[in-house]
Order: sequence, then C-alpha cells, then structure tokens
Amino acid sequence: MRKFTFALVATLLVVACNAGQTVKKLPAPNKERTATLMQALSDRQSIREYADTPIALQDLSDLLWAANGVNRPDGKRTAPSAVNRQDIKVYVLDTEGSWLYDHTEHALIKLNDGDFRQPIRENMPPMNLVLVADAEWQWSGVDAGYVSQNIYLFCAANGMATVAMGMFDEEAVTKALNLLTEQQVVLVHPVGYKK
Ligand SMILES: Cc1cc2nc3c(=O)[nH]c(=O)nc-3n(C[C@H](O)[C@H](O)[C@H](O)COP(=O)(O)O)c2cc1C
Repeated sequence: MRKFTFALVATLLVVACNAGQTVKKLPAPNKERTATLMQALSDRQSIREYADTPIALQDLSDLLWAANGVNRPDGKRTAPSAVNRQDIKVYVLDTEGSWLYDHTEHALIKLNDGDFRQPIRENMPPMNLVLVADAEWQWSGVDAGYVSQNIYLFCAANGMATVAMGMFDEEAVTKALNLLTEQQVVLVHPVGYKK
C-alpha cells in the first residue's frame, strides 16, 4: 500500500510539473540525406548572413539530431563527450521563444515566450542554437566544440549557414534560458538558410 501511495504521489508530481508545458515533438530525423562528408568538409565555413526564410521543421529536426542527438540504443550521442558525461545541452532561440532540446524524446520543451535571438554583426538569423555546459567541467569547451562542428557540417551539407559565436549578450541568453548559476553558455550558433 505504501509503495502504491508513493508511486501515485510521484506520478502526480510529474504530471503537475509538466502541466501547461508546451512540448513540440520533432519528426524523426531523416538519416537518408545524401550529401557526402567530403563535400560537407569542402563547403564548411563561417557564414554571417542569412535568408529570412524560417527553418523547416524537418530541417530543424535533422539539425538538432546531427548536433547532439541520440544515435545508439545505449543513449550515446552524435557528439562525443569526455568520459561520456554528455554535459552539453542544446537550446533553441527562435521568433516564438526559448526552447530546450530534449534529446531523449527528440522534442523541444518551451521555456519562455518572446524573441531572444542574438544577431551577428547586425544580421538577425531565423534562429540560434545555444550550447550550454551543465556545470564547471574541464572538458566542456572541448565537448561543445564537437557539437559545434556537427552543426557546421550539417549546415554545409544542407545549404544552411552558421557561425560559432563566442561573443554574445551572455546576460540576455542566460535569462532567456532560465539557466542556473553553475550552467555556462559556451557558444551561440546563428542558423539560417544561405542568402
Ligand atoms: C570558439 C569560437 C568562437 C568564435 N566566435 C566568433 C564570434 O564571436 N564572432 C564571429 O564573427 N565569429 C566567431 N567565430 C568564427 C571564427 O571567426 C571563424 O571560425 C574563423 O574566422 C575561421 O573562419 P571559417 O570558420 O570560415 O573557417 C568563432 C569561432 C570559434 C571556433
């Protein structure tokens, strides 16, 4: 009986915590895209101007999966991480608000309404991907670098433009993402289609 009561309370707590939370389920990533790795490496570059076109949901799905999605049954990811700590979270800033990429559900969880996108040299992209280290960890810069390169290569292979940005309004981004003091924004990636 006590076990049942505990399970019931735990379930109610989870339901209460998720109540009202907007979750955008992403379509399954399309792993049949045909661009070659050598072509992507040939085309990879930092691009700081973007078309106004919003990112299509399938492209966003594939981009997030490529960045740091789950690629094996044991839960490991497209990006390596030191001692498999998986310390890099990916967030999205778009015209609707701020979102956390839930890699286990391949979905976006809404955090705040509003437009918190960061421009690059006065160019506003349709969205930013934000790479956040969960806590102080000596390898977080390295781990974020792999995610960043995944983003670069996916964009290069699919007619999209991006740049790794180490300079941004840290206070605004931290607030938009409800980050805890121990969390650190490592890089912001503006992303859009090529102009
Ligand atoms: C960690 C890191 C931080 C960067 N920060 C910025 C930045 O704040 N602003 C910017 O315009 N470019 C930034 N860049 C992009 C570099 O300027 C760019 O990679 C470099 O000029 C080489 O160009 P390429 O990426 O086209 O090869 C950054 C790149 C890295 C790896």
